[in-house]
Amino acid sequence: MKSTAIAHPNVALIKYWGRKDEKLRLPTNGSISVNLSEMTTTTTVEFSEKYTSDQIRIDKQNLFDEADRVIKHLDRIRSLAKSPLHAKVVSENNFPSGTGLSSSSSGFAALTVAASNALGLKLSEKELSILARQGSGSACRSIPSGWVEWKDAETSEESYARSIFPNDHWDVVDVVAVVSTEKKDVPTSIGQKLAQTSPFFDARQQSMQSKITELKKHITDRSFKSFGEIIEAEALNMHAVMLTSSPSLIYWSTGTLQLMKQVKKWRTEGLPAYFTINTGQDTHILVEEKNAHILIEKLSTVSYVKKVIKNSISQGARLIQTHLF
Ligand code: PMV
Repeated sequence: MKSTAIAHPNVALIKYWGRKDEKLRLPTNGSISVNLSEMTTTTTVEFSEKYTSDQIRIDKQNLFDEADRVIKHLDRIRSLAKSPLHAKVVSENNFPSGTGLSSSSSGFAALTVAASNALGLKLSEKELSILARQGSGSACRSIPSGWVEWKDAETSEESYARSIFPNDHWDVVDVVAVVSTEKKDVPTSIGQKLAQTSPFFDARQQSMQSKITELKKHITDRSFKSFGEIIEAEALNMHAVMLTSSPSLIYWSTGTLQLMKQVKKWRTEGLPAYFTINTGQDTHILVEEKNAHILIEKLSTVSYVKKVIKNSISQGARLIQTHLF
């Protein structure tokens, strides 16, 4: 009745921002992501008659504010397994949460894999992805390995993520630059609801499918410049929707803005590097492995960069044998 899973957050290269079904968390467009090797969420779940209520502990703190969302997810899994048992959940991230590094993607992926196994459910990768999506949309992309696509779909059964290329298809590296550990003031799940209030939302939607097709082609061809140009423009496109939603959402800090300009400058000086940013100030910079040391060296001289995490593209969520309690 006790299981532990490990999952990696993913970074979306083509982003999910806006939902056509709030309750089922069906996005208005497809997205593409990669799992990040050095960042992990480890989660142990135990269901037992000894617990009279669900206990949730994340990063050594008992969770009250966000506990509802976790408990709702446990309810989904209990209902599939027809179990009345309460659970103890302990979860640990090895990276800052609430700063734009997608801890909810790895968090709900690890919770889904651990809790369903603890209740004896034998779910396929597709079923796990569908389930994880209902906890946090992007979590469905942390279930499969490598380069992942979450296709646009009209029903819950069809809205899941699958691997489109294995981890070792192309040695692209995602270097995370932590510019501050301050938590975002508007959670992503609230921000998602505002997307459609932006006057630019419809224009963004019209470009999504062709962007996805084009990006997949550049990944297939391992064409880094074309790949980088698309992902950076896509991040700015999503942030244009955020900036112009009502109320407006500004997820950047001064460090984020400075770093975006710095990456562009390094490019003019000959370093092929491109950024992407989610809901928070921390910044992802993508380079090919052969250029990673140059980027990291440059970042080490930037005063407002507090920490750098070099990630390769990794496998998906999986069970492990070492429990947290
Ligand atoms: O899955 P959510 O609700 O945490 O939303 C993720 C939103 C972005 O990170 C900005 C984009 C994405 O596709 O991951």
